[in-house]
Amino acid sequence: MLAAALVSAALVGLVRAQDIPAVASPTDLALVSAQYENSGFSQGGNAGFGIELDAKAVLTVVYPFGAVENGASYTVDQVSEGPDLYVTPAESTVGWFNSSSRYTVALADASSLGDPDAEGNYRHFLANSLDGAAAEGDNLTFTPSNGQVITYYAAPGPIEGTGPHRYAWLLFEQPADFSAPSNLSTSGVNPSHWYVNSYVEETGLQLLAASFFTVSNGDATGSVAETQAVNTATLSAAPSATSGGSSTSAGSASETTSSGSPSASAAPDNGAAQLVLSVGAGALGVVGLAAAML
Ligand SMILES: *[C@@H]1O[C@H](CO)[C@@H](O)[C@H](O)[C@H]1NC(C)=O
Ligand SMILES: *[C@@H]1O[C@H](CO)[C@@H](O)[C@H](O)[C@H]1NC(C)=O
Ligand SMILES: *[C@@H]1O[C@H](CO)[C@@H](O)[C@H](O)[C@H]1NC(C)=O
Repeated sequence: MLAAALVSAALVGLVRAQDIPAVASPTDLALVSAQYENSGFSQGGNAGFGIELDAKAVLTVVYPFGAVENGASYTVDQVSEGPDLYVTPAESTVGWFNSSSRYTVALADASSLGDPDAEGNYRHFLANSLDGAAAEGDNLTFTPSNGQVITYYAAPGPIEGTGPHRYAWLLFEQPADFSAPSNLSTSGVNPSHWYVNSYVEETGLQLLAASFFTVSNGDATGSVAETQAVNTATLSAAPSATSGGSSTSAGSASETTSSGSPSASAAPDNGAAQLVLSVGAGALGVVGLAAAML
């Protein structure tokens, strides 16, 4: 029994190590930016977040099943626990991730009531003022940490028959004078509808990285754009980021997303995942079940 548990823990460890890159290439950054665009997230008007992505890092989101593949479809069960997050800059973008950098991390559903959603986007996780810098050496990957969780992880739980929902983990750089809106400034704010672009405009955030996937419940009555439709041959490999040291913000922020299903009261996320920024259920506040099921 114990031996079996050890073996399986070791296997999980191996899978995770393979999934997390040491450095991003300019092509990796161009690809994720194009896939994000292709998935409709940059569209406004309730169809997306109304924010463009010019990626400065690859964001790897590791759930118990493994790392999220951008644009892939997962089940409610696969994403019921909060993931661990890893940020991998390119050599040309490490300057964005230094020890003075502060990050905001969010998980949002682009259109939780169906596509488009007249009430905006839906907030499943939000944390501010994480810190962290690109690691030294050959492996630049780091995990943001030490922030304040505003909305604890509310697992995706789409309403039946509303088609594939598009969820995105978003990593933002905070400006030095960042100030949270008064109604999103304390820990334990329930998940709810919001407009990602309004929040970003109000607080001066800049999107640095994203990872995204879909979850459906029941027969899919809608369709979503395929990230695979990106023609990689057309990608520009030119990094859009300012080069190394002189750029705006650097700093690695580890994600503090805590996992936990909406129905879990407050089971702490124990275990090895605590080494990295883990969005565990321990961070779950009192989340209304109905409110979280989106
Ligand atoms: C890079 O570092 C991260 C964080 O320490 C680690 O999880 C990952 O396995 C490393 N990747 C490679 C390819 O060595
Ligand atoms: C916070 O206040 C803004 C502005 O009044 C409002 O648009 C938004 O819905 C509120 N957000 C939450 C989570 O209450
Ligand atoms: C660190 O990053 C911040 C933005 O996150 C930037 O404003 C600052 O210039 C960077 N500092 C250095 C020394 O590169």
